[in-house]
Amino acid sequence: MSKKVFIRTFGCQMNEYDSDKMVDVLHAADGYEKTDNVDEADLVLFNTCSVREKAQEKVFSDLGRIKHLKAKGVKIGVGGCVASQEGDAIIKRAPYVDVVFGPQTLHRLPELLSTQRQTNKSQVDISFPEIEKFDHLPPARREGVSAFVSIMEGCSKYCSYCVVPYTRGEEINRPLDDVLLEVAQLAGQGVREINLLGQNVNAYRGTMGDTSEICDFATLLDYVSDIPGIERIRYTTSHPNEFTPALIEAYAKLPKLVSHLHLPAQHGSDVILAAMKRGYTSLQYKSIIRKLRVIRPDLHLSTDLIIGFPGETDADHAKTMKLIEDMQFDNSFSFIYSPRPGTPAASLQDDTPHDVKHKRLLQVQKAINDNTHALSDAFVGKTARILVEGPSPRSRAESPELMGRTECNRVINFAASTQAMTRLPGQIIDIAVTQRMGFSLRGELALTDAPELAAA
Ligand code: SAH
Ligand code: SF4
Ligand code: F3S
Repeated sequence: MSKKVFIRTFGCQMNEYDSDKMVDVLHAADGYEKTDNVDEADLVLFNTCSVREKAQEKVFSDLGRIKHLKAKGVKIGVGGCVASQEGDAIIKRAPYVDVVFGPQTLHRLPELLSTQRQTNKSQVDISFPEIEKFDHLPPARREGVSAFVSIMEGCSKYCSYCVVPYTRGEEINRPLDDVLLEVAQLAGQGVREINLLGQNVNAYRGTMGDTSEICDFATLLDYVSDIPGIERIRYTTSHPNEFTPALIEAYAKLPKLVSHLHLPAQHGSDVILAAMKRGYTSLQYKSIIRKLRVIRPDLHLSTDLIIGFPGETDADHAKTMKLIEDMQFDNSFSFIYSPRPGTPAASLQDDTPHDVKHKRLLQVQKAINDNTHALSDAFVGKTARILVEGPSPRSRAESPELMGRTECNRVINFAASTQAMTRLPGQIIDIAVTQRMGFSLRGELALTDAPELAAA
């Protein structure tokens, strides 16, 4: 019987992507299969996040909870950003951990595990061996209609509050040909939607073949858009600083580029943005969005916000609220600032009481939730175009249901015939939206130009 690996993933989409790659390398080297049941696992991996203190501490409490599995021979590994930051300290704090590896050394996992087995000593490898990782990964295996493709690793922006440049290293770009090959392979496996991944994708500078030419992000989008089978292109995360005129123009040229953008603003006050070392003002942020909305009036925007950065006054906070009002964000990841050891902001004086920060956070979350619902309500009574992903979680044999997503990532569930259950996944279709249900929508198949679909 093949060995099984259980992976618990924390943090961002970079980690989600890396977790899939861990399964791929373990499968290729030792025949491992992925399991969602920790009790049947031979290997348990935690792919960790250290972006906020809470996320980091959670790893140690969760490790404690699975420690007992060691008695039946299960191996335990810790990867990701906490591993990268703590290294040997993880083994000191949790000596039962067998392997510790970083985001750039996950391809060495089979080797680390076998060395651990032979020597019976915990193995730690959190080095940054440049782009080696991508050269040692087996071809992507993918089920489903949507997939991530990493185009760059790390970050060289060094925002004053952030650990990412230290945990994942400086920006390294994947060569253009490698990216395009992976997208084409995925398209061949039925993937219709590609999400290009990196901490600052619009800083992409990839080498082109054997030439000395460099491909920027807008050009990469052009190439990806030409790959047959790919119907939708997303990317995450971009940064306001390198939002070039060519990238804005891509929204006019490339219909496959979705009318949805996740562009972290972090704050509405220029004083705080400067202290964060973000390198833009709120006016510059707004100006990018204004230009995009001229081209795509239906653009849905989501963002990241940090509340309670050291020195944030009521007036600063009011500017964040004003930014939310002006931009009509559809969604946000908003968190209270968490001082991270080793980052410049950690030594700033912070006088704002926690309950004040908490109140500000609730205010932000309420304003954005109200926006989300208002934007959802605007769909009701209209036709929405979705990429059908598969059965909705509530689908039953007697009442089959499919789910798909709009370009702005709203889930729409709709009743489908048994025939449609197999025919529609992977297709882009129109749905007449009838109702909002919480954060998702319900609808029914709309009459379309394609008779075989209307009949399905
Ligand atoms: N590269 C992306 C974001 C990567 S980290 C960008 O620059 O926009 C994801 C999010 O975590 C950040 O956008 C930020 O909002 C949040 N974050 C990072 N460090 C944080 C900290 N010390 N405290 C609270 N939130 C933080
Ligand atoms: Fe962190 Fe800033 Fe880099 Fe984003 S751009 S990963 S917030 S340092
Ligand atoms: Fe967390 Fe590392 Fe991503 S710190 S947010 S998992 S890059």
